[in-house]
Amino acid sequence: MITPVLMAGGSGTRLWPVSRKAFPKQFAPLIGDETLFQASARRLSGPCYGDPVVMTNSDFRFIVAEQLEQVGIGHEAIVIEPVGRNTAPAVLAAALMAATQDPDRLLLVAPSDHVIPDSEAFTRAVEQGIGPAQAGRIVTFGITPDRPETGYGYLELAGQGEGPQPLTRFVEKPEAARAAEMLAAGNFLWNAGIFLFSARTMIDAFRAHAPGFLEPVQKSVDEAQTDIGFLRLAKGPWEGLADESIDYAVMEKADNLTVVRFSERWSDLGGWDAIWRETLDAEPSENGVALDGPATAIDCQDVLLRSDNEDLDVVGIGLRDMLVVATSDAVLVADKSRAQDVKQAVTALRKKN
Ligand code: GDD
Ligand code: MG
Repeated sequence: MITPVLMAGGSGTRLWPVSRKAFPKQFAPLIGDETLFQASARRLSGPCYGDPVVMTNSDFRFIVAEQLEQVGIGHEAIVIEPVGRNTAPAVLAAALMAATQDPDRLLLVAPSDHVIPDSEAFTRAVEQGIGPAQAGRIVTFGITPDRPETGYGYLELAGQGEGPQPLTRFVEKPEAARAAEMLAAGNFLWNAGIFLFSARTMIDAFRAHAPGFLEPVQKSVDEAQTDIGFLRLAKGPWEGLADESIDYAVMEKADNLTVVRFSERWSDLGGWDAIWRETLDAEPSENGVALDGPATAIDCQDVLLRSDNEDLDVVGIGLRDMLVVATSDAVLVADKSRAQDVKQAVTALRKKN
């Protein structure tokens, strides 16, 4: 039995202005009717899975509980991180909690901002990873890359072949030139951001590569308090933690990584360029113009024009490679190659307000 650990604490700042602090992207129906969080929970609710553990923060606890209930999925725990310190401590906390029951318990850490239409194919990939995970490997899932994306991690394959195989290297969010090299080399896959491992293996990996997290996270877990059905990790020790993702803290350094290839459609809606691609996929257009809401394009090429406000028309004329997103109180206009930098806009606005 695998316990899904759903990561639902991110603020999705790269999808500003639709994704907001109080209501980030994973809880919004960005594509289709279900929210990304609900789709992720459903994907991991088959016979080989137990009820999920959801790692989130105080602001989102009721949204998480309500959205799970709406789709009829239970939960083992909804765990509240006192402050956002990225995914490294959240993953470790989940592993430490699971280990108190059974150190060999398998955990599947999954983000809640993904689109994976073929759940059955995904489950088959997960099943291939069970053996290696039981044998002490950290199993990653690899996607065949089709562009020099800088927002993902890259997995360097040691060999050829279809089954699970060891990884030579994990490179998180490379510079553009390095991403282009890896794409051209042909022996790299994208990291899907989904990891399968036993609680014991992950704790050992932190001990070896990021030992500074162990004591404070253990303390937060030991001093956690139940609050009307939510589990609140203790704030004191958590506040002092480094803000680091699991990819940088552990994956780039670990030498026991295995990859299972996942060949079906997968997308991380990590930025507006990804939404542009998904919108086009749903409604293809020859010149790469993706329109959503009351939006009009005149002589445009490879642009997203989106208005989430029915009363606000967005018109683009003669634009190339642009992202334009309007809501009722904000407008984003960005070069498509700068989608990852929308994060900086949010930081700048927070400073100003
Ligand atoms: N609980 C919790 N707490 N969740 C968090 C936190 C936190 O502090 N910060 C982020 N998350 C959640 C996000 O909501 C998301 O579901 C998931 O963790 C991953 O975070 P992202 O910020 O979206 O990571 P990324 O997309 O930049 O990079 C990761 O995913 C890529 C593929 O989607 C990496 O694993 C890359 O290597 C990978 O290619
Ligand atoms: Mg992401």
